[in-house]
Formats: sequence, structure tokens, C-alpha cells
Amino acid sequence: MGGDRKCRIVLLGMPGAGKGTQGALLEKHFGIPNVSTGDMLRESLSEGTKLGLAAKSHMDAGKLVPDDVIVKMVDEFIHKSECSKGFILDGFPRTLGQAKALDEMFETRGFKLTLVLYFDLGQEDAVIRLSGRRVCKVCQRMYHVAFNPSPNKDRCVCQGELYVRNDDKEEIVRHRLSVYITQTKPLVAYYKEKGLLVEIDASKDIGSVNDEVLGVLYANC
Ligand code: AP5
Repeated sequence: MGGDRKCRIVLLGMPGAGKGTQGALLEKHFGIPNVSTGDMLRESLSEGTKLGLAAKSHMDAGKLVPDDVIVKMVDEFIHKSECSKGFILDGFPRTLGQAKALDEMFETRGFKLTLVLYFDLGQEDAVIRLSGRRVCKVCQRMYHVAFNPSPNKDRCVCQGELYVRNDDKEEIVRHRLSVYITQTKPLVAYYKEKGLLVEIDASKDIGSVNDEVLGVLYANC
């Protein structure tokens, strides 16, 4: 990320493709925020806000939260001072409507979208990843029982308890994947047409995926 050009990146890919894992690594590496709409909604829920409570039934069922709610949330966040050096959007946009709203948001503010990183992974690999995911109740750090276990067994490195997300049950995971195919996958063509899409082989291990992503970002940002 050379000079003072601001990098504004979208992480696109099916549930379990590794967007959150790579987003957290990039946030640490580049010092720009990873804006995860899923994390924002879960945080709102744990705080008991109206927005969080309204989103809960959609999330638990593996459905998307309505576009207007998500767009407003992202629009408010990306104009905060912590996003002034650029940002990573993890899990947004997820529908054509959200992608068009993002275009408008950027146009209004004079922002330019740098790149869309598309994490390509097969469905069965995604099911295995999500069914083995564990998340820390305290710091939200993510693990996988086989691919990325905590050195503290059932506890996080911060000693927080690890839990299984409600929407990581297999039948909900399969529903999330079908929602992805019908509502989010069309964004691959949308961004390819705009010349913004870079495909990443998400089937490799976490370190190799990160190396590929960093190579792409250093070449483009
Ligand atoms: P969200 O939390 O965004 O979930 P998601 O998109 O379904 O993505 P995941 O978090 O499941 O997967 P990921 O790609 O981040 O993979 P991760 O890095 O965790 O959204 C949840 C819900 O919120 C949605 O269903 C919807 O209801 C709502 N929502 C959110 N955004 C919305 C929007 N824009 N519009 C409408 N509704 C919205 O990795 C998964 C596991 O694999 C982990 O255990 C990890 O350790 C492991 N892993 C990661 N990379 C690798 C690797 N390379 N090799 C092996 N294991 C790996």
C-alpha cells in the first residue's frame, strides 16, 4: 500500500471461504479496519439493540438481513475517522442491490473501489470449515478444530470460552450456501465486468492464501 493512495477492498466469497480470517490478518498487516457486516450485526445483537434483535431471526435462519438495514449500517461506518486511511469490507455487498448502493455511496463521497478479492472455494470444503469453526466469546478470535486449533484446547489464547455459532449447524450452513449461490454469486460477474475482480484460490492453507492476497494487494494498492 504505497504512497498515500487509500486502499478500499471488498472480500467476496461463500460462507466459510475465509473472508473473516484473511480480513483480520489484513487489518493487522496494513492497519486499516476490517468492516465485517456479520460481526457488526452480532455485536448489535449482543448489545441488545433494536437493529440486532431485528436481524437475529434472519441470521439464525441463514437468510440475508434486508438491504436497507445493511446499507445504512455500512454507510455510517465507512465515514468514521478510523476508515480515513482506507478499509476492507468483509461480507458486504452480498446482493446486487447492495453493490449498486455501494457504487452510489462511493460516488457521492468521491471514493474509489480498489479491488474485489474473490475467495474461490468448493461447497463441501465450506461445510467442513464451518462445522469445525469455533469463535472466542470474549475477543471474537476464530479457530478451526482441525485446520487452525487454539493452542489452549477449548479456550482462546485470551482464555475466553470458545463457542459454535448458531448458524454453523449443518442444515443452516447448507441454506446459507444456497442463498450465496442465488443472491451473492452474481456479484462475481458484476465486478469482473468492471475490471475489479481478482480471484484467489481459497482452498489452500491460511498462510498460503494470505501470501497470495498480500502479493495481489502490494501489486495493486
Ligand atoms: P457472516 O458472519 O459474514 O458470515 P458468512 O459470510 O456466512 O461468512 P463466514 O463468517 O461464515 O465465513 P468466512 O468466509 O468469513 O470464513 P472464516 O474466515 O470465518 O454473516 C452472518 C450472517 O449475517 C449472514 O448469514 C446474514 O444473515 C447476515 N449478514 C452479514 N452480512 C450481510 C449482508 N451484507 N447482507 C445481508 N445479510 C448479511 O473461516 C471459516 C472457518 O474456516 C474458520 O474456522 C477458519 O478458522 C477456517 N479457515 C479459514 N481459512 C482457512 C483455510 N485457508 N484453510 C483451512 N481453514 C480455514
